[in-house]
Amino acid sequence: MPCELVNGNPICPPEVTPSPQMPGETDEYFEISVTSLVLALLLLIGWVIKTLFRRWARIRRRRGDTVPKETAMEMERRRQPPPPPQMGPFPRQAVSTVPPPRAGATLHPPRAAPCPAPRVAPTPPPARGGGRYHLRPAKSLKPGFSKLQRGHRLDRKLIQTFTEVSFLDCVTECMVTPRCKSVNYFKGANYCELNYENKMTAKTRYMDSAGWVYSEKEHWPKELAGACSNSTCEINETCKHKRYTEDKFFECVLSDCGIPDIKGIDLGSIKREDAIGIHRRIHASCADGYSQSGSGRLNCQSNGEWKYDIVCTGEYANLICEEVNH
Ligand SMILES: *[C@@H]1O[C@H](CO)[C@@H](O)[C@H](O)[C@H]1NC(C)=O
Ligand SMILES: *[C@@H]1O[C@H](CO)[C@@H](O)[C@H](O)[C@H]1NC(C)=O
Repeated sequence: MPCELVNGNPICPPEVTPSPQMPGETDEYFEISVTSLVLALLLLIGWVIKTLFRRWARIRRRRGDTVPKETAMEMERRRQPPPPPQMGPFPRQAVSTVPPPRAGATLHPPRAAPCPAPRVAPTPPPARGGGRYHLRPAKSLKPGFSKLQRGHRLDRKLIQTFTEVSFLDCVTECMVTPRCKSVNYFKGANYCELNYENKMTAKTRYMDSAGWVYSEKEHWPKELAGACSNSTCEINETCKHKRYTEDKFFECVLSDCGIPDIKGIDLGSIKREDAIGIHRRIHASCADGYSQSGSGRLNCQSNGEWKYDIVCTGEYANLICEEVNH
């Protein structure tokens, strides 16, 4: 409160600083507050200890329940031999741990040597909807491996190529692609080629090629395609596994533009790296007796249709067409 001037003298109100209290009063007040503080503290500590003890007891009880069971299972598992390899509907990656056949110096083992039995990782159950998957007994992969053609390759009949895939993934990709008839695999680079022909349908394109392995689709069990083994994908499609979905296990997506069906076209000039898959290209020309206009390059677009401007015109068109198409 401000001081007032009365007749020139400042008159101030009495100070409102805390008035000194009686000594006894202070001590009593202090004692009371300390006592209640200590009491409150004790209560708090008691509560904390009780809570901690309860939690600890719960954890101990839970451990006591499960730990022995888990170790028992573990021991049981250890006592049993490892589960047999399982094939069937599985995520594609599940086979990627399989060692592909050895290439290079070991590509030509003695004839009598048995084919190395493929080791296939046990299939982990899918994360969701797992109950709907039924692992069927494994079909042996032996026929497929025993009929591999080491040191061979089918040339210039490519649908699509893949890098960094295992040999079994390569075969599986062929299994889920209706147009695929065989694969070439180069172990050195984990390189996979899907062919739309095999050595029976394209005899002249089947050749010696060091470091390559050639294998035909029909030598492998259908089960390798998993859920896709029952797919109804079209010839220009490939079946993709759909993981983590409940309703459908696969879907069909466009795989290629098909073998170009253009009047007078000749695929004899196709290059080694040419492929008919989506986003790939081939080099063609007009057959003998035709005159060509436009580029011989055909690009397979993402909509599954060829983009090209080649036009072949010629007098003997019909005659040569029959010859080309047999
Ligand atoms: C494919 O269909 C057959 C017959 O309809 C069925 O027995 C089999 O389980 C199916 N396979 C898959 C992987 O769905
Ligand atoms: C794919 O093949 C089907 C059946 O052969 C055909 O009806 C369809 O038009 C083709 N799709 C493309 C994009 O060529």
